Amino acid sequence: MSWVLVTGGAGFIGSNFLYSLRRRQPGAHIINLDLLTYAGNPENLTGFQGDSRYILVRGDVADRELVQDLFSRYPITEVVHFAAESHVDRSILDPGVFVRTNVVGTFTLLEAARQAWKNPAGPEAPRFLHVSTDEVYGSLGPLDPPVTEAAPYAPRSPYAASKASADFLGRAYFHTYQLPVLITNCSNNYGPYQFPEKLIPFALCQALEGKPIPIYGQGANIRDWLFVEDHCQALLQVLEQGRVGETYNIGGRQEVPNLELVRRLLGLLGEMRPDLGDLNRLITLVPDRPGHDWRYALNIGKIESRLGWRPRVGLEEGLRRTIAWYLGHEDWLDRVRSQAYRSFLMQQYGTGVVG
Ligand code: NAD
Ligand code: DAU
Repeated sequence: MSWVLVTGGAGFIGSNFLYSLRRRQPGAHIINLDLLTYAGNPENLTGFQGDSRYILVRGDVADRELVQDLFSRYPITEVVHFAAESHVDRSILDPGVFVRTNVVGTFTLLEAARQAWKNPAGPEAPRFLHVSTDEVYGSLGPLDPPVTEAAPYAPRSPYAASKASADFLGRAYFHTYQLPVLITNCSNNYGPYQFPEKLIPFALCQALEGKPIPIYGQGANIRDWLFVEDHCQALLQVLEQGRVGETYNIGGRQEVPNLELVRRLLGLLGEMRPDLGDLNRLITLVPDRPGHDWRYALNIGKIESRLGWRPRVGLEEGLRRTIAWYLGHEDWLDRVRSQAYRSFLMQQYGTGVVG
């Protein structure tokens, strides 16, 4: 019987993952530890209402007593660790909380897992899947080959540095204590339930309101886009079949410069909502993000050859499905855009973009 501790399960990828996990393992017990920060939304998990094998614990991954208590209370067999501060722009404005949640939080969780396992009356060592990012490998130039799992770490934003630190702790707990840690490094996700501070849902929100869509610099920076459902499928496979102590890159093989991505997004939105008129007029070049990484690109040969996973949803299909979801959930968008969210936008972009 599986008892899966998922952290950050009320966020974007976490909530998509919980639905994938429930479909894959209908009998699994799921404990979702989530602080419900601005990015965590229990409304994302209404599909779990009445599910007697699902528990939401509102709390902080960096709260040692709470986390230890969860390990002593439940026979946890797997940990899937999403909880993090995840937005690069916020890490530039206020890095301290990124160190606390992403570094201290990951340490707290690893240490509680180790302590529970060391206890002779405790459970077997839980498989511990730490969900990380391609940003730890640093910025690539236009001609650099996609990076493999053996590439050196070179994080450049406070967010990326905090995730790199967490990855190193995960590696250390495997090598030093043989805790069965697995690490995944993933490219940019998009899809349902993504908080509208990240490029795709933010551009959609602005377009629906006829407001400027800010593009940093010249819009030439390149990201690799992965539909969230494909990511969740990969995580399940790594959790079930991955070799402990190993890292797996997970990417979409869909590298696109930001300006082109936003044009494609607006083109598809325009087809679905012709009443919105010429959306390209909203694209507005704004000053660049400080230290803006030029390009990320992952070599995903390892997960393809060892675990048989590959991304299945192409960019056009993924964007269409994402747009359709947001168009069908405008009430969700209204509810997540709180006063605090508007203050963040004002601080980040100013009145020229926020209006
Ligand atoms: P998100 O910001 O949408 O969600 C984060 C979740 O963590 C929220 O539910 C939030 O309430 C919770 N949380 C934050 N601080 C917490 C704390 N101290 N204790 C407990 N819960 C806390 O993030 P996301 O986009 O779903 O990303 C999930 C994970 O995947 C993160 O670790 C992120 O670094 C990683 N990742 C994200 C992407 C992406 O494109 N979104 C790509 C690669 C890796
Ligand atoms: O690469 C994986 C990472 O992808 C994850 O680890 C992070 O959690 C996730 O937030 C994401 O980071 P990015 O910084 O790449 O995502 P974001 O959506 O913020 O930005 C995508 C690109 O678009 C980036 O080059 C910056 C640019 N951008 C972003 C915003 C919000 C703009 O040009 N304008 C904007 O308003």
